[in-house]
Amino acid sequence: MDKGKEVLLSLRGVEVAFGGRGHRFLAVDDVSFDIYRGETFGLVGESGSGKTTLGRAIVRINQTSRGDIIFEGEKINGKIPRELNSKLIQRIQMIFQDPMASLNERAKVDYIVSEGLMNVKKGLSEAERRRLVAEAMREVGLPAEFADRFPHEFSGGQRQRIGIARSLIMKPSLVIADEPVSALDVSIRAQVLNLLAGLQKKNRLTYLFIAHDLSVVRFISDRVAVIRKGKIVELAGTEQLFAHPLHPYTKALLSAVPVPNPVLAKKRQPKLYDPACHDYSADKPVWAEIERGHFVYGNERELAGYRRELAGR
Ligand SMILES: Nc1ncnc2c1ncn2[C@@H]1O[C@H](COP(=O)(O)OP(=O)(O)O)[C@@H](O)[C@H]1O
Ligand SMILES: [Mg+2]
Repeated sequence: MDKGKEVLLSLRGVEVAFGGRGHRFLAVDDVSFDIYRGETFGLVGESGSGKTTLGRAIVRINQTSRGDIIFEGEKINGKIPRELNSKLIQRIQMIFQDPMASLNERAKVDYIVSEGLMNVKKGLSEAERRRLVAEAMREVGLPAEFADRFPHEFSGGQRQRIGIARSLIMKPSLVIADEPVSALDVSIRAQVLNLLAGLQKKNRLTYLFIAHDLSVVRFISDRVAVIRKGKIVELAGTEQLFAHPLHPYTKALLSAVPVPNPVLAKKRQPKLYDPACHDYSADKPVWAEIERGHFVYGNERELAGYRRELAGR
């Protein structure tokens, strides 16, 4: 572990299986990484790669079939004591992708924002509840009066702000943001990303930021993990990953990012990823730290190649 960095969340060999006999498959397959307090950890991968399932495993919606999830030093997957469960509901919050679907249409914003809080703080007075709602609304840049309205009166961006307020009011330490801007108009994505970045600084939050869009992940993340079919294939500091991707899947993903310059765009050939390029029949792959803080999934022969590539860069 790096000096001065405190591990907030640690995953070790985490697996989530779906389907019964005959068609059991691993949506999350042997995933290991640490998230440091105060950082933004980006998780990027195509649709169906297991990002949401992994996020839901951390908030205990999806059961794990193997491995350990350690939060603030305590194991939080599998069977846990009740008190730990209520603590986690408050300490780990999730922001969902679709702000149109994730808000209760029949409830006023006031109720939506404070519902979770009321569940963990039973004795909260009405005055205190209203004060906390107003504070959360202010923090996400919405007028406190909006608390008396219903979700349908708001735009997508405003609804996502309400979703963020609902998380913030819990005073979490870890926020899992699952594609929080994917469903939003391109024109308001930057506003919401900037809001999230500002809130992180102010409240010393740690983010697990999930996205399929590399430019969004690059903008907001300190480190980035690339997931494919439930497996993390590479993890590095954001600059390092974008400058020196090693795994062929990461390279293919990066080569598909649109370039704003049409001349460059014409010259650049997108790389295709062929899973058959790995021969794992005899030489089995491992999750290896190839240079400080840079992890890649590969077998001995591939890792030797990645080392040569780094040495000659
Ligand atoms: N509750 C479930 N039961 C069965 N399969 C599921 C369930 N949830 C997700 N899956 C499958 O797991 C895989 C990963 O899904 P998901 O985590 O939603 O991917 P992502 O968020 O990266 O798009 C997909 O193949 C999806 O169909
Ligand atoms: Mg998803």
